[in-house]
Amino acid sequence: MSDFYNQINKNALPAHVAIIMDGNGRWAKANGQPRAYGHINGVKSVRAVTEAAAELQIKYLTLYAFSTENWNRPKEEVDALMGLLVSTIEKETETLNKNNMRLTTIGDTKRLPEPVYKKLMGCIESTSSNTGTTLNLALSYSSRWEIAEMVRQISEDVKNGKISSSEINDELISSYLSTKDIPDPDLLIRTSGEYRISNFLLWQIAYSELYFSPVMWPDFTKENFYEIIVDYQKRQRRFGKTGEQIEESK
Ligand code: IPE
Ligand code: IPE
Ligand code: MG
Repeated sequence: MSDFYNQINKNALPAHVAIIMDGNGRWAKANGQPRAYGHINGVKSVRAVTEAAAELQIKYLTLYAFSTENWNRPKEEVDALMGLLVSTIEKETETLNKNNMRLTTIGDTKRLPEPVYKKLMGCIESTSSNTGTTLNLALSYSSRWEIAEMVRQISEDVKNGKISSSEINDELISSYLSTKDIPDPDLLIRTSGEYRISNFLLWQIAYSELYFSPVMWPDFTKENFYEIIVDYQKRQRRFGKTGEQIEESK
């Protein structure tokens, strides 16, 4: 086993890791290839990280695969990404089942082309009773879309008397988001050396530890993932308290 793997404290793992998988296009360009080639090669990184999370028994892994804003990319690229989604779901459903993994999704998936939507729902259904790691794919997702949906639903429920406006608090808001069944991410990783969030889980990452890796997504390996977990475990999460208070409560 690798150095970093051995340094991981298996009793202090993050329950939820979220990843902004970025850098496919630049990786392809650096290799003199079209952008789609980068996306194709990004799939093996998805496989590697998913496998690593399952082996470590991390409960939730959320991968940002396609944002609301990504619909604005050239049609050719969007089509390539959608095609890749279909073939990957097709190929990987069996592996997910073998590894006792469950697939879930967040985002405006109704916008996905019919074949993608059908494959996705098929895989979700087929893996729904698995009890290991949940792989949560953010597809046609953006945080502002999700927040607007939440506000719309809360206002409807106030209007129809299901809740009263005085009940609106942190917890209630969280329960109206698409991540309602998932704890907030403990750790958010972004690859490719970009230092931004790009409309991802804005509400949920209020107290997440952030890690920005320079590695382009198609080059991202299990080893990179382990190294980040080790770094995460060295941090002190204070949630507004003092370091001393955190030490005392241990
Ligand atoms: C991430 O890689 C994949 C998606 C956003 C779908 P990019 O395609 O954004 O790659 P860069 O950022 O252009 O290198
Ligand atoms: C964020 O990457 C979205 C995904 C990884 C799916 P982008 O490449 O779309 O983000 P920006 O445009 O550089 O902020
Ligand atoms: Mg990008």
